[in-house]
Amino acid sequence: MSSTNYVGKPVSRVDGYAKVTGQARYAVEHHVPNLLYGFIVNSAIAKGSVTTLDTSEALKVPGVVQVFTHKNTPSLAWFDRSYKDQDSVPGSPFRPLHSEKIRFSMQPIALVVAETFELARYASTLLKIEYKEESSSTNLSESLPQAHEAPKGKEGYMPPKSRGHAKKAFSAAPVKIQAEYIHGAEHHNPMEMHGSMAIYEKGGKLLVYDKTQGVANTQEYVKKVFGLSKDDVRVLSPYVGGAFGSGLRPQYQLFMAVLAALELKQSVKVSLTRQQMFSFGHRPKSLQRLALSAASDGTLQSIEHTCYSETSRFEDYTEVVVNWSGLLYQCANVELDYQLVKLDVYTPIDMRAPGAVTGIYALECAMDELAVALNIDPLDLRLRNYAPEDQNEKKPFSSKELRACYLQGAEKFGWNKRNKEPRSMREGNQLVGWGMASASWDAQQQKCAAKALLTPDGKLTVSSGTADIGTGTYTIMTQIAAETLGLPIEQVEFKLGDSSLPEAPLEGGSWTAVSVGSAVKATCEEVGQKLLKLAKKKKDSPLANAGAEDVVFENGYIILKKDPAAAVSILDIIRDEREDIEVESAAMPGMIDKLKYSFHSHSAVFAEVKVDEDLGTIHVTRVVSAIAGGRVLNPKTARSQILGAVVWGISMALQEDSVIDHNFGRFMNHNYAEYHVPVNADIQNIEVIFVEEEDDIINPLGAKGLGEIGIVGVAGAIANAVYHATGKRIRKLPIQLDNVLSEP
Ligand code: MOS
Repeated sequence: MSSTNYVGKPVSRVDGYAKVTGQARYAVEHHVPNLLYGFIVNSAIAKGSVTTLDTSEALKVPGVVQVFTHKNTPSLAWFDRSYKDQDSVPGSPFRPLHSEKIRFSMQPIALVVAETFELARYASTLLKIEYKEESSSTNLSESLPQAHEAPKGKEGYMPPKSRGHAKKAFSAAPVKIQAEYIHGAEHHNPMEMHGSMAIYEKGGKLLVYDKTQGVANTQEYVKKVFGLSKDDVRVLSPYVGGAFGSGLRPQYQLFMAVLAALELKQSVKVSLTRQQMFSFGHRPKSLQRLALSAASDGTLQSIEHTCYSETSRFEDYTEVVVNWSGLLYQCANVELDYQLVKLDVYTPIDMRAPGAVTGIYALECAMDELAVALNIDPLDLRLRNYAPEDQNEKKPFSSKELRACYLQGAEKFGWNKRNKEPRSMREGNQLVGWGMASASWDAQQQKCAAKALLTPDGKLTVSSGTADIGTGTYTIMTQIAAETLGLPIEQVEFKLGDSSLPEAPLEGGSWTAVSVGSAVKATCEEVGQKLLKLAKKKKDSPLANAGAEDVVFENGYIILKKDPAAAVSILDIIRDEREDIEVESAAMPGMIDKLKYSFHSHSAVFAEVKVDEDLGTIHVTRVVSAIAGGRVLNPKTARSQILGAVVWGISMALQEDSVIDHNFGRFMNHNYAEYHVPVNADIQNIEVIFVEEEDDIINPLGAKGLGEIGIVGVAGAIANAVYHATGKRIRKLPIQLDNVLSEP
């Protein structure tokens, strides 16, 4: 057995030591001499314009260097409205300090730059700001008549074709349900707030530390917006304290830091405060209408799903919300519709499993309602309508072990002991409820490049300009590289988060493990071929006649498969060579397979809640999440991904809610005191199962991404459990104690 087979092993995080000892530095934790600090001032109104912005008092404070506003911002390349970052959506991106116009509450309107952060913040209180306010509209439900169809195509979303005659089938079916579900807005709250540091170097070059999920995207943004050349800007982001989608698009503090550094010819650091984390992109509020019908044996007859989501006035944020309803179950009659409503808010942004979390929540609650109407067990209903192929695309799945998820999850949870009757299970004054849901997410691969450097000391350094937002990218890439070349993992280092490295796609969409992993594997294989060539040339080489397919790389040796005694030490080869071996290569998804197959991960989630009958408090006491995500590259980091996702699903179901006051058009609970996220006491037993799923079509690693699938079904399973516990069907998220206590 080889000791250098690392893929599939629970290797601990290679960046763990640096993180727990504080050596890992995040975007604004770096320091340089003569550093200036920026503090951003945000608009107090949601719509209108700034009529007065008097900076004179602030500028009098010793140590305050400059205040940037729309009045003294130089004319920049970013006035070009067509500039789009890699994650932009149809419309015209928000440009900070562009004009006096206010388009959303908490819009950044000034940057105070001073010698210390405290001075900058203090001086910001001395600004005299007056507004001309216009009435704003932020109410989704009241604005439905103004909805428009979501833009389609490359930047928008790809709507699946409707099939059959959903309305006709619905009216003819014996059992049917119709319901409307509301999902509140949520804001990104990673541990690390968004921050950027623009280090001004000799000759006007910039070294930028940015909290981002894509250094190439940040570099391109800075280059385009400020009219610089690629050589003028290097972006570093070696550590990211969580991002979940908020770091896919460049955020406004990046613009502010770079603007100030270029104008003042000095290094500038700008970090958002926790409150300011509520001033940009959020998971949009949505209102969804579902209509399902079935034959009396439970066979689905029709699915209709319409979603209305909010977006800003200046961009159409789109995500895939309704398509899942045509994918998850076998059904001949499906009608899907996705509408956007423009409001006076910032453009929403991707948040972990964007769209699927929203759409599948509603679909899975509707399926539960249908199961009740049919008097069929909810799991049984799903098994009866299992989709063996992707009906949206009319393609087979490359693999789909959802059935195993259902069965193994149910077994672990003890689902067969469930009494179908609501309010039938209790412990004292706690009503016990069991609910379940299924889920799906994309398993995509993007083009990615990587390079490898093997030095005569036997050390292998592999790198790619990707990000590790806490998911385990550093670790998994190190495992893949070490295993591919059969080197001890201690000799291998993986580098990322640097725009000077080979280009990687944005870290997102659950595609990083396979996209970067495939590039790392391909690159290391090329190094291996070079090593083999050198080994063959050695005097009396036991590998003299060996071809690439005749050997394996293991335990530090190139070994002849037929005769394991015939082996050459990799260290000997590279030592004799006395020169580095360097290779840069790339990997792409297989295009033909992409056309022939549908690539998805799946899951089944089972949840237990206990609801206090008198107080209405809801606790999620158990969750079993069974995941079909292809080959698991590292069971330890994989499990952590699912655990974190389940915690967030619990949070989404019961806690997180960005509450807007429509009088002010403002999110009012923009702080950790009033925007609730789970604490340890909210999280009880979570079990994660990875079912066996072999997939030799999807990519050479046989893997699917695991960053997002874990959150998708959780809120639906919990909402269904709350119904089972209480007999009350609450069709909005988050579900709070007053919803449970109020009359049905
Ligand atoms: Mo993810 S929402 O693609 O970072």
